[in-house]
This record gives sequence, structure tokens and C-alpha cells, in this order.
Amino acid sequence: ELEDKIRERTQDLVKLVSELQSAKEHVNALFEKEKELNQLKTRFVSMASHEFRTPLSSIQLSATLIDKYIPKLDTENIEKHTGKIKNAVGNLTTILNDFLSLEKLEAGRVEVNPIWFNVVRFAEEIVEEMQLISKQDQHIIYEHKGTSAEVNLDNNLLKNCIINLISNAVKYSGENTMIQFNSILMDNELLIEIKDNGIGIPDVDQQNLFEPFFRAHNTGSIPGTGLGLNIVKRYVSLMQGEVSLESAQNIGTTIRLKIPFTNH
Ligand SMILES: Nc1ncnc2c1ncn2[C@@H]1O[C@H](COP(=O)(O)OP(=O)(O)OP(=O)(O)O)[C@@H](O)[C@H]1O
Ligand SMILES: [Mg+2]
Repeated sequence: ELEDKIRERTQDLVKLVSELQSAKEHVNALFEKEKELNQLKTRFVSMASHEFRTPLSSIQLSATLIDKYIPKLDTENIEKHTGKIKNAVGNLTTILNDFLSLEKLEAGRVEVNPIWFNVVRFAEEIVEEMQLISKQDQHIIYEHKGTSAEVNLDNNLLKNCIINLISNAVKYSGENTMIQFNSILMDNELLIEIKDNGIGIPDVDQQNLFEPFFRAHNTGSIPGTGLGLNIVKRYVSLMQGEVSLESAQNIGTTIRLKIPFTNH
């Protein structure tokens, strides 16, 4: 009888130990996650303090110059500098929005809410918006292929991805270039393709592009935080889709998104 009791107690203990072990693993995982988030925040703070300096000093300079132009009623120069201020504020807002998206993603607070919409109308609106921030004589050419144009996808996540990709195409290619934007609709799948003839991405850098804060070494003085593609990749994954990339330095870059949807 004593032996039975001992056996029972031992079994209880073994169970308890294994429960403790899994509780410990759970806490460790939470701790690791917290650590990663903290690292991300630290990197953001150091990146932001660097990336914010240029637009902030440009805002300050423009404001000072506007003060000088006001008594002379020099509207042309005043408008030039209010334009610069708006542009700089736009850059700052993009950086902050990217970071907020990333934090929301990290916290698992991004939900996918598919709705039915017409992808052609949706894409044309984006093109109109992006054409405004493109460079001189940079043309965004949109084309749709497919027998229909209705898709059942999260329009907000998709829009954010496409804007990120087109702004990269704009930023990393020169004046007088063409940016091709295609949507191809199949039964249960939307393909998005953004193609530019810009600086391209060196082979060695291609595998790291989707890491947060990573930037290829040929970006020179072109500003950026390296968050855009990471967000795109994560949004596309949340939608169960895939991202692929084809690029050659000094020739150009093509990025493709393949996103499935349910047809009912
Ligand atoms: N169309 C492109 N042509 C050439 N290089 C590109 C292109 N798109 C992305 N890259 C490279 O990939 C890197 C990561 O892109 P990503 O969009 O994540 O960051 P970013 O453009 O530097 O900054 P931001 O967070 O403001 O978007 C870029 O820094 C650049 O080196
Ligand atoms: Mg970018």
C-alpha cells in the first residue's frame, strides 16, 4: 500500500514539474517577445532622431524665410516654402504611421476585414494619389487583366501595401521613367505587380529587404527608414498571400503580391 502511495505521489510530482516547465516556457516566450518589442522601440528612437532632423530643420528654415517674404508680399516664395513645409510634415507623418503600423502588428492587433470591391476603380484612385508625389515626368501606368474586377479583400491593408510599393518605385527611380502597375485577377487570387526602371537592389541585399530597418547599400542619400517592405510582407502574410521580388542593380525592380480570397 505504501508503495502505491509513493507511486501516486511520484506521478503527481512528475506532472507538476512538467506543468511548471511549460509555465516557465510560456513566461520565457512572453519575455522574449517583450524584449524584441523593446529593441524595436530603441531602434526606432535612434532612427527617428536621425530621420527627423532633416525635415525638422527644413521646416524651421522655410518658416524663417516665410517671415522674411511676408513684408515684401512675395507670394511666389511664400508658396514655395509652404510647399516645402507640407512635404516635410508629410515625410514625418509617414515615418510615424509606419512605426504605429509596426507596433500594432507586433501586438497582434491588426485584423483582416475583407469586403467586395472593384479593384480597377480602387487602383485608379491610388494612381491618381501617387501621381501627385511622383517625380518630374515619372508616369505610373496602370493596367488590369482579368474577366472581372471584383475582389473580396481587405482594401485598407491592400492599399497600404500598394502605396508602399509605388512610393518605393517613385523614390528609387529617376525622372522621365515609367512605373508599371498591374493587377491580374484570377478565380480566387489577385496578383499585383509593381515594376520600375530604377536603381535596383544589389544581389547581396535582396534576402534581407523584408527585415525591419534594413536598407540596401546603394540607397546613398535617398531617405527612408527601412520599415515599408517589412510592413508589406506582414500585411500580405496576414492575408495568407505571398511577396516575391525580382531586381537587378541599375536595371530595375519588380515586386509581386499574390493574394488569395474566398469567392463567396
Ligand atoms: N523599387 C525599389 N528599387 C530599388 N530599391 C528598393 C526598391 N524598393 C525597396 N528597395 C530597397 O529596399 C529597402 C527597403 O525598402 P523599404 O520600403 O522597407 O524601406 P525604405 O524605402 O528605405 O524606407 P521606408 O520605411 O520609408 O519605406 C530600401 O531601403 C531599398 O534599399
Ligand atoms: Mg519604402
